[in-house]
Amino acid sequence: MMAGRPQINLGLEGVYFDESRICKVDGQKGELYYMGYPIAELAARSTYEEVCYLLLYGKLPKRTELGAFTSQLRESRQIPEGLLSLIRSMAKKAHPMDTLRTAISALPAYDKEAYDNSTAANLRKSARLISQTASITAAIGRLRQNKVYVTPDNTLGHAENFLYMLNGSRPSPKEARIMDTMMMLHAEHSSNASTFTTIAAGSTLSDMYAAVTAGIAALKGPLHGGADEAALRMVRAIGDPGNAERYIDQAIAKKQRIMGFGHRIYKTYDPRAKIIRSYLLELHNTSSKEVRRLTGIALKVEELMVSKLGKQKGIWPNVDFFSGPVYVAAGIPADLFTPLFAASRVVGWCSHMMEYWRSNRLIRPLDYYTGRLNMRYVPISKR
Ligand code: CMC
Repeated sequence: MMAGRPQINLGLEGVYFDESRICKVDGQKGELYYMGYPIAELAARSTYEEVCYLLLYGKLPKRTELGAFTSQLRESRQIPEGLLSLIRSMAKKAHPMDTLRTAISALPAYDKEAYDNSTAANLRKSARLISQTASITAAIGRLRQNKVYVTPDNTLGHAENFLYMLNGSRPSPKEARIMDTMMMLHAEHSSNASTFTTIAAGSTLSDMYAAVTAGIAALKGPLHGGADEAALRMVRAIGDPGNAERYIDQAIAKKQRIMGFGHRIYKTYDPRAKIIRSYLLELHNTSSKEVRRLTGIALKVEELMVSKLGKQKGIWPNVDFFSGPVYVAAGIPADLFTPLFAASRVVGWCSHMMEYWRSNRLIRPLDYYTGRLNMRYVPISKR
């Protein structure tokens, strides 16, 4: 170490930047809590709307509170006409995550409260963002395939309406329940890359829409939310359970990442992956041949990875590994997985943003300069 060189935590690994009461991730025990409630308990007994209320207001709602919040969400589902034109103009040319990010960043044009940074306005904007992100994701899914935009059905629950707007038909109660739970499982996960990016953008006192747009940008990458799409593509590329061992061995030998495995915090089985895996098994008998094939490959990859890297290196399945076949079973194409992740996580971003704003301090870390100094400027004609 050079004299005077500060401690550098690459990737901010192990660095605490604030306190939070929203989410506890215990990476050694494989535990996850939203506002103190264990994730398995919420997944089994709650709904996405209730979890959104919990994350935004810090407590489970009474019946009347949930009713009012649910109405607020339903009233915000319809996409403004101008925004639909913007989505239409991009949907076939760009990755859905880019179209989603652009559409969300355009929302202030349709919200007279966009620049009101009071808590009351931010709570209302959070509800709008939750509804709009889901509606926009569904609209992208349809418009890029030349299908007509399906207007929201305000008699349906949040996840149910998302599937209706995407597929144009009402899902079965079981499909709706599984999608609702998938959204709950993706709703929040402490200060990961996208949440921290949201907070960093908002710490400049920009606004909720700007901060969430930044969060979507960070979620896109395959080391973070983009891993769900990448994991399914990998499973498809493996093609058959019989090819899995050769594929995994080659990837390990070349030091390639196996998508949907490993985590900065969890050094054991991700509790969300356990729940999603159980859905896959539950769906197995009733799902299509394609979903059964993908499930068979995924289970084989899991078995191999657990025996080769699990205990030795602490690399276990994460939330993104088993999601793919579950989403395929719901009629969702691979490149809509990460927008759907964003549509589920948006509530977590809003919750953290509002918590951080309560005692805001500009986020401005340091890098340790190792470049040259006192360089002489040479005119371009003399270089
Ligand atoms: N496949 C193979 N090897 C891996 C993997 C993986 N998925 N993940 C980590 N490793 C190895 C890595 O090569 C390194 O080995 P060595 O010590 O021999 O150099 C060791 O494990 C430690 O890796 P690291 O890069 O220090 O770990 P990290 O904390 O920076 O990485 C991660 C976390 C999520 C970026 C990484 O595990 C990864 O790239 N996973 C694949 C992408 C993925 O599934 N991302 C989703 C994460 S969870 C959901 C979300 O955040 O959206």
